[in-house]
This record gives sequence, structure tokens and C-alpha cells, in this order.
Amino acid sequence: MRQKQIFECVNELGRVELDHVTPTDAEYAISNEIRERCKELVLDNSQLEKYKENLLNDIKKGLGKKTHPSSIVKCFITYVQDLPDGTEVGKFLALDLGGTNFRVLLIELNKNHFEMRSKIFAVPQHIMLGSGEQLFDHIADCLAQFMKAEKIMNEVLPLGFTFSFPLMQKGLTKGLLERWTKGFNCSGVIGNDVVQLLKDAIARRGDIKIDVCAVLNDTTGTLMSCAWKNRHCRIGLIIGTGTNACYVESRENVENMDEPDAGSGKVLINTEWGAFGDDGSLDFVRVDYDKIIDQNSVNPGKQLHEKMISGMYMGELVRLALEVFCKDGLLFGGKGSEALSTRDRFYTKYVSEIETDAPGTFTNCKEILEELGLKHATEQDCINVRYVCECVSRRAAHLASAGIATLLNKINEPRVTVGIDGSLYRYHPHFHNLMMEKISELINPGIVFDLMLSEDGSGRGAALVAAVASRKR
Ligand code: GLC
Repeated sequence: MRQKQIFECVNELGRVELDHVTPTDAEYAISNEIRERCKELVLDNSQLEKYKENLLNDIKKGLGKKTHPSSIVKCFITYVQDLPDGTEVGKFLALDLGGTNFRVLLIELNKNHFEMRSKIFAVPQHIMLGSGEQLFDHIADCLAQFMKAEKIMNEVLPLGFTFSFPLMQKGLTKGLLERWTKGFNCSGVIGNDVVQLLKDAIARRGDIKIDVCAVLNDTTGTLMSCAWKNRHCRIGLIIGTGTNACYVESRENVENMDEPDAGSGKVLINTEWGAFGDDGSLDFVRVDYDKIIDQNSVNPGKQLHEKMISGMYMGELVRLALEVFCKDGLLFGGKGSEALSTRDRFYTKYVSEIETDAPGTFTNCKEILEELGLKHATEQDCINVRYVCECVSRRAAHLASAGIATLLNKINEPRVTVGIDGSLYRYHPHFHNLMMEKISELINPGIVFDLMLSEDGSGRGAALVAAVASRKR
């Protein structure tokens, strides 16, 4: 069992103070050459300021009527204009598709209390890369299995569909897929309404009935579930398989929304910031490893920001660096292994585990290197491997921080909570602290912020959006 170091985190239940101190590289004797070669991964604040400026420009283009069609950061309108107020009641179904797993949830809301039952189903690779019909049949099949097990086959429950890919929404229950991300590439879905595809698949079976009340992004779900508890929540962030953020924007800044203001003067915007950089605006910080990751992906040239940050790519970024350093004789005495040269064989969870080792100890690191056929690794190698992991994960945390700082400055409210979900943020031992530190350096004076871990945000949020929507109906 690998050691898990506990770290400070803020979750919906309150703040848990624990004992982690971010190790500084001064504590280690990292080889000079390794440090030198990793310099390109270390971003300073002037680079992050440039990033913020570029991102803000791109967000404005996404929101503008004329500029939206050609914009890179799409800033899709979610049609969610009301945050939950804690009075939502009822029984709801939620579907959550967005990463390697697919979840079906049954949620009962009762004022400030909720009960939830859920089941996880795998989405096999052949379905991720198959036809849209196969994908939606699989979803409908999982839903029917779940409803059967829960004995609700004959009920028609309101359903929220968390579909965590870029959707050009035409309303709360209509969303056209703009592009696939995160390794999915199902044919016949781009440009189509995913709610209709779901309904068609359910109709093909004929054994269950549902009432789709909303389709939403996981960032929206996260924001909603955080807002249910915390009235300062204005941003939802995911740092998991992919990365993306949504935020509360003033209605008047959203030029391309046709619907009238629902009264709140606000509208939730799904930035789809994973695509930031697809026009070259991040070239000033991208390195060769980023380019290799991109070339080897199913969506070359797309989601370049996401590829520098999220869990789907982080382990591979580290592996690419380690492989080069080994070839150049800087690691493992120049003797690699088959695993070290195998694409995607260095998992992102290894990065978290290696950085969980207490400063000066390398228990997890040694175990992982052994698993990778690098039994001959020395303590010096471990020091260096850990440093490479730190550089890659810090870079990700700093980029995400600059993104959040851009949104906090744009929202410009004195006190804002950011609801966060995603496996990388959740399991990396230092991501939270790195972000707290860096965001503080990058926001305008006078803004107070908080990062709140959202438990089951995307699923529970779907039920909340469905609840708010069905209440309005
Ligand atoms: C990808 C998707 C986006 C989602 C994010 C996190 O970037 O395009 O919709 O929110 O991953 O899951």
C-alpha cells in the first residue's frame, strides 16, 4: 500500500487543516543538468500575466456576437440562469458522461438534505471510438439496468444529463456537439443534439421512459452543487481527465444570447477553456513534449491548453521527459526499460504518488520505478524523477491558477468561492496549495477567494439543474 500524505483541503463539510508543506527543490540535490533541462517547464509570473491577457481576450471574443463564430474559447451559454437556493425537493435521475466512466445516479433532494444512489459503468475503448448510435445505446442500456435495479422502471422521473464535452446549447434541453475531446471520437454526433440522440436510443429500447429537463457540462454541475451550499460560488472548475471552467457572467456581456433575461441579470458561461491555445496563443509556453502529446492524440491541434494541464496527459508528459533524459544519459545510468519507452505507461496517478513521498523519502517513487522495470534506479534518480514530476504538475497548477485568476478578475466581486472537481485536483497532494498560492499572486487586490472541493459535483449538479428547471416549469 503506497503512502498517502494528507493535505489541507477545503470541502463542503468545512476546512480540514493538515500537515503538508510543499517541498521546495532546495531541499533536494537535483542534478544540475536535470534542473537546466526542466527550466522550460517552469513558468514565471510575467509569462502567466501574458497568458491571462490572452485568455481574457479569447473569452471576450467567445462572448461577442460577431467574434463568437471564429472564437477559440467558445464561452457557450448554458441557459442556466438561476442558482439553486436550497429549497429544491424531489426525486431526480442524473446521467454523467465525460471521462472513462459513465455514471447513473438517483438523487432525492429534500431542502438542505440529499440522498444519492449511483452506479458506475465503464465506457470501453471500442465505444469511445465507435458510432454515436452505439454510444447512446450503451448509455440507455446502463440507465435501464440501473432503473431496473432501483425498481423505478415504471416511473417517469426528471433527468439531468451531464454531457461533458463542448456543446453549443440552444436551450436548457438542446445541445449540439461542437467537437469531441478527452479521447472520445464517436461518429455521427458532431453537429447533432445529444439530448435527441439520447431520447432516440431510449425510444429504440422501449422499456423505460424519462423526462430530460436539462443537459449540462460537468463544470456547470460542479458550480451548481457548490452553490447549493455556498452562496459565494461563482466558478465551477474541473481538473480531471480534461480541464474546463464555467462562471457566472453578467447578462449584458453575453451578446449572442437570444433568450430574455430571466430576472437574475446573470448567466452561466461554459468557457471550454481546454481549447485555449488552439490558434497558437500558448506557443510561447508550449514545449516539445506538448507537441508530441498533441501529435499522438486522436485530436491533433485541438485542446492544447487541456493537454498541458489535465490528467489524461500529465503522466505521459512526465514519461516523455524521463525517456529523453534517460537516452541522454542523465537518468538510470542511461539504461531505460520497455515500460519507460511505452506510450501512456506512466500513469498520472504515479505523479501524485511520487509527490506524496515525504521530503527526502522515496518509497512510492522506488516502487513505481520498479514496476516500470527500472529496479536499477538510484536515490539520485529518484530525486530527479520527483523533480520532473513536480515541474510538470506545478506547470499545470500554475496554468489553471492563471485561468482562475483571469475569471476572478473578470467577475470582480469581492468574495468568490470556486467549486472544484476532478481526479487530478482531488488526488494530487499539492495541487490545492499550489493553486491557492499562485492565484493569490495573480488576482487584483481586494478580491478574496476560496477553493472548495465539490463532492460528486457533476452528478449531483445535474439533479440540481433538473430540479431548478422543473420547479420553473
Ligand atoms: C473537456 C470537455 C469539457 C469538460 C472538460 C472536463 O475539456 O471539452 O466540456 O468540461 O473536459 O471534463
